[in-house]
Amino acid sequence: MTPAPSPAPEASAPPAPLATTANTTTAVVRPRIGSYRRHLLVCTGPRCAPEGEAQTLFDSLGDKLKAAGLHEGDLRVKRSRVGCFAACKGGPVVCVQPDGTWYYNVTPGHMDRIVTEHLVGGRVVQELVFHQGPSGAAL
Ligand code: FES
Repeated sequence: MTPAPSPAPEASAPPAPLATTANTTTAVVRPRIGSYRRHLLVCTGPRCAPEGEAQTLFDSLGDKLKAAGLHEGDLRVKRSRVGCFAACKGGPVVCVQPDGTWYYNVTPGHMDRIVTEHLVGGRVVQELVFHQGPSGAAL
């Protein structure tokens, strides 16, 4: 006599315990960030601005954005440092999102123009742009 075939393993296996997934999910704290209109990203990596001027530029942004009224409200700008954009020359390199605008050689004076003309006025500072991503049409 031939034994009856065993049921497929997945048909008889108990369902996977959900507690593991649920515990993992509940153990992770959900981050929060305030709403913002634009995100200003500054590369402080070692190659595009090797003399530390990008870090100095980033450190100046708090005061510049506050003076322009961009630290709160509808036009609030979030700022972040990044380690490398893979551009790696002509820095400091700055990217404004979601506009997709990439600026190079951002001296303190150039940053003042970017703040006033782009972040407040909504007009890209064309002579400082080295790349315009696809979101640029939405400005
Ligand atoms: S180090 Fe700045 S873009 Fe690479």
